[in-house]
Parts: sequence; C-alpha cells; structure tokens
Amino acid sequence: MDYQNLLEKAKEVSKNSYSPYSKFPVGACVLAESGKTYIGTNVENASFGATICAERSAILNAVANGERKIKAVAIYSPKMKKCAPCGLCRQVMCEFKSDSGIDIILEAEDGGLDIHTLDELMPMSFDL
Ligand code: THU
Repeated sequence: MDYQNLLEKAKEVSKNSYSPYSKFPVGACVLAESGKTYIGTNVENASFGATICAERSAILNAVANGERKIKAVAIYSPKMKKCAPCGLCRQVMCEFKSDSGIDIILEAEDGGLDIHTLDELMPMSFDL
C-alpha cells in the first residue's frame, strides 16, 4: 500500500463524515502491520465532548479487527491542507505504534504528500 493510496482512502471516507456542528469533515486511513488498511471518519454529537476524531475512529476500527501495531495513518480534510492530528489522537497513536514508529501522511499545500513521524509530532510521550 503506497502512501498516496492511503491518502486517497482517507479522502474517500471523509465524504461519510458526520460533522453537522463544526462542518469540518475529516477522513483517516490506518495502515496496520498486517498490511491491511482501516478507515475512520469524525462523528460529532450534540454533546460536543462525545465527538470522536477520524484518526481515533480509524485506529479503533483497526484494533477491533485484531490489529495491535500501526505503521502509518493518512489524514485528510477538504477544509484544510496539512490537517495534523489533535493531541488526543497522537496519544492514542502512541499506544499502537509499530516498532518502526508511525508515519503520518498529510496532504501538502501543493497537493502532494507531507510526511511526518509520530516521534516528531509527539516527543517525550507518556507511556506505562
Ligand atoms: N477532527 C478530526 O477528526 N481530526 C483532527 O485531526 C482534527 C479535528 C474533527 C473533530 C471535530 O469533529 C472537527 O474535526 C472539528 O474539530
């Protein structure tokens, strides 16, 4: 699975976003160590704190399917280039990072790929 393809899947699932309050759709696609991919989108709630982000939705989907190690996460919003993951999602990514870490794939300003690592976005993270 190449990263451009992963971003395309994130783009596709962002169309299913349930975001009537923020009107900020987001899609995410996880590449697990098994080679399988898992999609997720943000799902909002009238009680705003009950909202789940696209990234956590995709990661929980992967975990529910038996995955424990994630290699990459692509994130897309039609409203924002370089839609970086929130702090809560970064912490959840830390829980399931593969031995080689996690690549975070965003859409660059020019429409290409903007690739970061979780270690770069979440230095000195908490773990037990
Ligand atoms: N959101 C995500 O799904 N992922 C992000 O990385 C940033 C924020 C969602 C949460 C909420 O539904 C909307 O975007 C606005 O914050």
